[in-house]
Formats: sequence, structure tokens, C-alpha cells
Amino acid sequence: MTVYFIGAGPGAADLLTLRGRDLIASCPVCLYAGSLIPEAILAYCPPGARVVNTAPMSLDDIVGEIDAAHRRGQDVARLHSGDLSIWSAMGEQVRRLRALDIPVSITPGVPSFAAAAAALECELTLPGISQSVVLTRTSGRASAMPQGESLSAFAATGAVLAIHLSVHVLDQVLAEVTPHYGADCPVAIVWRASWPEQQIVRATLGTVSTELEGVLERTALIFVGRTLSAQDFDESRLYAGDYDRRYRPVGSAPRFPETS
Ligand SMILES: C[S@@+](CC[C@H](N)C(=O)[O-])C[C@H]1O[C@@H](n2cnc3c(N)ncnc32)[C@H](O)[C@@H]1O
Repeated sequence: MTVYFIGAGPGAADLLTLRGRDLIASCPVCLYAGSLIPEAILAYCPPGARVVNTAPMSLDDIVGEIDAAHRRGQDVARLHSGDLSIWSAMGEQVRRLRALDIPVSITPGVPSFAAAAAALECELTLPGISQSVVLTRTSGRASAMPQGESLSAFAATGAVLAIHLSVHVLDQVLAEVTPHYGADCPVAIVWRASWPEQQIVRATLGTVSTELEGVLERTALIFVGRTLSAQDFDESRLYAGDYDRRYRPVGSAPRFPETS
């Protein structure tokens, strides 16, 4: 018996990995994390599967449900939105399960920041402008930000910010980041990336309206950074005609001579 933690992706059912789909189809028990897991993904559960929405459950109840499946010898598919490596609460579940000697396996998913960047048709890292993306959030009731991880501390680096779980405090976000990036810096907000109801607002820090706060529901990402609308950026050296590299040796004395 194994508990398969599966990143269910950002929302579109076809942004689930093939491995994730096949595991869901093979498990007689499926626990899923609320409304961010679409019905179409739950439809991969086998007929007669026990399918449980864990949104209203406590950690004790969730672990109890898994332990009961373990005693029955039944594999469990445990679904969380996006990828499991960020804000999934997987860590605390895995720790409990290891203490109970229940085997776990992790299958990654498409994270929402990647789906939102795709919706913007945007490469977040552009040569000469920004080469780092900070995946971050503001403090919430469930999780306070550790000291040193304030938005303004990250903003001071000039990196592109992908701010999760924060659209309801947009005014606070703007107040913290604008002094570092300037009011003309591009901002993009993507609601429900990859869902049929996806919405996008593009603006600058100075023009994006705090009236948006609370107008639309909270499943949104805020991007801040100069790469969001940049057209005047360097080309990377990787594909430059004179760039000598292993797969395309160039010049009379290439660094990686072809061997045949
Ligand atoms: C609890 S976190 C889960 C993050 C998830 N594990 C991931 O990999 O993206 C929920 C937050 O992720 C962001 N999010 C999740 N799905 C999204 C989507 N489809 N579009 C935009 N933002 C999304 C929102 O900021 C939301 O408040």
C-alpha cells in the first residue's frame, strides 16, 4: 500500500501529468484538496472509488482516512493543486505518514505560476533584465511570513516576483513593492490560469487599481517585474551563431571537438 501524492496542476484537466492520471486511475481511494481540483480530474478515479474532499477536514481526520485505507491495504491518490513543492501542506502529511510507517510516493504537477506565465505568453527570465523569479506570498492567517522574507526584501533584489495567495491584499502588495520597482513597472494579475474562466489584467504598479481587490475570487497570481512587457532585451548567447558549445562546435579549435 502506498500514498501517492500527486500534483494535479493549475486547473485544466489536460495539464495533469500522464503519471498522475494513471495513478489516480489505479487507486481505490482518492483524497482531493477542495474546489481547485476539477471534476474532470476526479473522473479518472476507478468506478466505485472512495473519493473524499478534504477541504473541511482536519489534519488528524485526513491522516485517519489514509490510515484506514492502509489497514484495508488500499492505495491512496492524494491530490493537491499545482505542484506539491509549494504551499501544498504535503510536508506535514508526509511527516505523519512516515511516523506511521505508511509508504509515500510523490508525483510533481504543473505549478500555477507556470500556467499563469503561459497565459501571459511570457518568459519571466530575459537576458539583461531579470534572471531570477521569486515564488512568494504575503502573511496569511494560517502561515505568517518568516522574518527576512518580506515582499520589500525580495523586491529590493529586482527579481521578478510571482506573488501567490495575496490578491485580496493588493494594496499592501503595491505599497511594499512600488518603492523598489517604480510606478511604471509592469504588473500582471492572472485569475484561474488555465481554467475556462481565466482572466488577465495587465497594468503598471501605478495604474493597477486596488479596486480589483476582492472583486474577483482569490485564486490569482500577481506578477511584478520588468520582463513582463519587455521587448528590448538581449538575445541569449546560447543560440548565437559564433557560440561554441558541445552540440554545435564552432571555429578552428572548438572547446568540445566532435569525436566520431
Ligand atoms: C495554496 S496555494 C497552492 C499553490 C500550488 N501548489 C501551485 O503549485 O501553484 C494557492 C494559490 O496558488 C495560486 N493559484 C493556484 N492555482 C491557480 C491558478 N489556476 N491561477 C492563478 N493562481 C493560482 C493562487 O495564488 C492561490 O491563492
